[in-house]
Amino acid sequence: MRAASPPDLSGRHLLLGVTGSIAAYKAAPLVRLFRTAGAEVRVLMTPDAERFVSPLTLGTLSEHEVLTKIFPENEDGAWTKHVTLGEWADLFVVAPATAQTIAKLAHGFCDSMLTATALSARCPLLVCPAMDREMYRHRTTQDNLKRLREIGYDVLPAAHGELASGLEGQGRLPEPETIRDRAATMLADRTAPEEAEPSPRSLAGTHVLVTAGPTQEPFDPVRVLTNRSTGTMGYALAAAAARRGAEVTLVTGPTALEPPAGVDDVVRVETAEEMHEAVQARRDTVGLVLMAAAVADYTPAEPSDSKRKKDAGDLTLRLRRTPDILKTLGEHKHDAQTLVGFALETDDGPDNARRKLSDKNLDWIVLNNPTEEGAGFGPSTNRVTLIGRDGTEEALPLMSKTALADALLDRVTPPSAAVSSP
Ligand code: CTP
Repeated sequence: MRAASPPDLSGRHLLLGVTGSIAAYKAAPLVRLFRTAGAEVRVLMTPDAERFVSPLTLGTLSEHEVLTKIFPENEDGAWTKHVTLGEWADLFVVAPATAQTIAKLAHGFCDSMLTATALSARCPLLVCPAMDREMYRHRTTQDNLKRLREIGYDVLPAAHGELASGLEGQGRLPEPETIRDRAATMLADRTAPEEAEPSPRSLAGTHVLVTAGPTQEPFDPVRVLTNRSTGTMGYALAAAAARRGAEVTLVTGPTALEPPAGVDDVVRVETAEEMHEAVQARRDTVGLVLMAAAVADYTPAEPSDSKRKKDAGDLTLRLRRTPDILKTLGEHKHDAQTLVGFALETDDGPDNARRKLSDKNLDWIVLNNPTEEGAGFGPSTNRVTLIGRDGTEEALPLMSKTALADALLDRVTPPSAAVSSP
């Protein structure tokens, strides 16, 4: 929904990546909207984008040179600009994003200033696809967009309407105001640069254990009971902890995600029992535990060794409780250890979360409601309330899971690395 008054983006650094789509002409009003809202804007274009809109136009509107090539002909040493721009940006918006650029971003290509900067960027990315209807619908494009969401990028779905081909359907670039508003929402959680903390609290020397994804509980050799967790939140936390210098162990249930860079100890498990064993084996050396996994509370009591046949009619399964991994950690918690749990609640969220915080002897609990738009399993965004054992309660705004991982680590990491390994 559009904000009643234009958002304030004063002091924000916005990178706009423009690619070769007919919708590239909308980049001009978009730069103006960002600038009017107070943001500083730098523009990157792919070589094909120059066929649709001139770098001179976007350079004039942004008041900065537009960069296209990773190796400009006349500039010595300019090739490192993708790194400095990636560090400079608070948000990188790719609009319009063609099927070609989406495919490149999904697979780590860095053949232009735009794609190389995307790989170097430490800020959230917003990708706004624009293409013809069949290209947008194509399984490859949809798989690539899914991959981008898994990586932690935010994807603004294409709008419906008349397309350049004359066809009607989904594929239009959303209006510049819609893109600006989504960018503003993503930035809303971020403190303006001049007010920001000097640097994120370091986790160097700390062993951080993150659990992620669902568990799968077999009731015969081919069937399992599981849940809808994708693992995105846990993987984002593991990546953020690794960026802060922690030694990270990621204990993960089955997911489609690649282990994040910098995480060397990845333990793949299937059942709650296996996750329990992997976690408890490390509990004495771990300083910070982030228990983001959606652990099954029940497992079939008598799994069958052979595939159950349906001839027997209706099937009744008896389920038994799985171990409570976090509660066990709470019972063995040592002084230099911080335990963070996640509570997924559809009703009476704060009360239930506070009860879990106390029952499991946690330091923090992250409350989220999977039925809220943009929250819970699946989306690349989340909206949570962080509750501390000291009674503090902070509702964080809707943000990407990548940004949320950093926001959570900023808050749960004790000062002066008090969580260092014993
Ligand atoms: N958890 C765990 N072991 C379990 C179940 C949950 O370690 N067997 C952890 C989760 O990873 C999460 C926290 O406990 O960090 C809360 O999980 P949640 O599913 O919200 O609560 P439950 O303890 O399972 O309670 P309930 O099902 O009654 O809501």
